[in-house]
Amino acid sequence: MLTSTLLLAALSWAATRAQPDIETELGALLSDKAMVIAPSSPHFGESTERYLRSNSLEYAVVVVVDTEDDVSQAVQGGLATMHGGMNIWLWNLSRIEIALDGQHAYVGAALCQCVGVAGSSIGGGVGVFMGSYCLGPDQIVSARVVLANGTAVTASPEPHADLLWALKGAGHNFGIVTELQLRVFDNTGKTDWSSALLVFTQDKLEALFRQLNAQLPRQPSHLSFDVLIVRDPSADAENSIILVRLFSNVFSVTTLEDLKGPRISFGI
Ligand SMILES: Cc1cc2nc3c(=O)[nH]c(=O)nc-3n(C[C@H](O)[C@H](O)[C@H](O)COP(=O)(O)OP(=O)(O)OC[C@H]3O[C@@H](n4cnc5c(N)ncnc54)[C@H](O)[C@@H]3O)c2cc1C
Ligand SMILES: *[C@@H]1O[C@H](CO)[C@@H](O)[C@H](O)[C@H]1NC(C)=O
Ligand SMILES: *[C@@H]1O[C@H](CO)[C@@H](O)[C@H](O)[C@H]1NC(C)=O
Repeated sequence: MLTSTLLLAALSWAATRAQPDIETELGALLSDKAMVIAPSSPHFGESTERYLRSNSLEYAVVVVVDTEDDVSQAVQGGLATMHGGMNIWLWNLSRIEIALDGQHAYVGAALCQCVGVAGSSIGGGVGVFMGSYCLGPDQIVSARVVLANGTAVTASPEPHADLLWALKGAGHNFGIVTELQLRVFDNTGKTDWSSALLVFTQDKLEALFRQLNAQLPRQPSHLSFDVLIVRDPSADAENSIILVRLFSNVFSVTTLEDLKGPRISFGI
């Protein structure tokens, strides 16, 4: 008992001692434009803010990286020795380069400053063009990934085909993606979007999915939908409700009635 108490005391002493070292030691390994933001910095709060407050995380330090090598250094120099979490902030990895063949682009992990292009592409990439072009992960041709030991590799059909396969859908767990090579498509020029939000009570769940599945073979590629099962006590205090969101940039979708008829019938 005494031994374990002493051990804990030693560990927490080491942790508090390690904290200032991370800032100076890691800072020295990073590129000029990278930044290490400590909890004492006035910028710490804004650099740990998340879209949903309920998803807030505690970090011991924030590292704003500027290059792929900064990511490697942060992983090697910080994660292994640090007490608490490190937020590796990728928002300045936002380069974009369209390949000469016009078929794909190299994009930095952050690209957009809200949802990162990497964060969404490797995890879901559900979007309104999925009927025509499939999901976000389907567009990934190759990826630069910093592995857990700090080594950066290119995951592509050859080499590291297994890593590429894993990234396409479960990518948040295999390393830090710094850049993606993505397929790109010509703009269709059809910019008028129509959308509808259909709300169903829980008792319609099975009938709704039977209908959605039945009409899939006939569904035009420009029409996409997603289904969210959510709690909304103002709509139903007891059960979840089902939201169906429909999108098309070819014909107008406004209510369920619009979808009945020769094109698509939901029949609910
Ligand atoms: C406003 C908003 C709108 C959204 N709309 C859509 C939508 O239309 N379609 C859709 O499919 N999803 C959508 N999402 C969900 C979104 O795709 C995921 O939450 C995505 O993971 C967010 O990416 P992020 O860069 O913000 O990552 P974070 O929220 O910072 O991180 C999410 C997870 O991904 C990991 N991660 C982030 N970046 C990388 C990286 N470069 N390499 C490895 N792991 C990484 C993090 O460690 C963490 O585990 C939306 C989310 C929000 C907040
Ligand atoms: C990172 O991006 C932010 C926002 O665009 C900018 O204010 C900051 O100067 C950038 N940092 C570097 C090192 O480029
Ligand atoms: C890092 O891990 C990868 C994958 O296991 C391995 O191929 C590589 O040699 C490792 N690098 C170092 C420096 O240990």
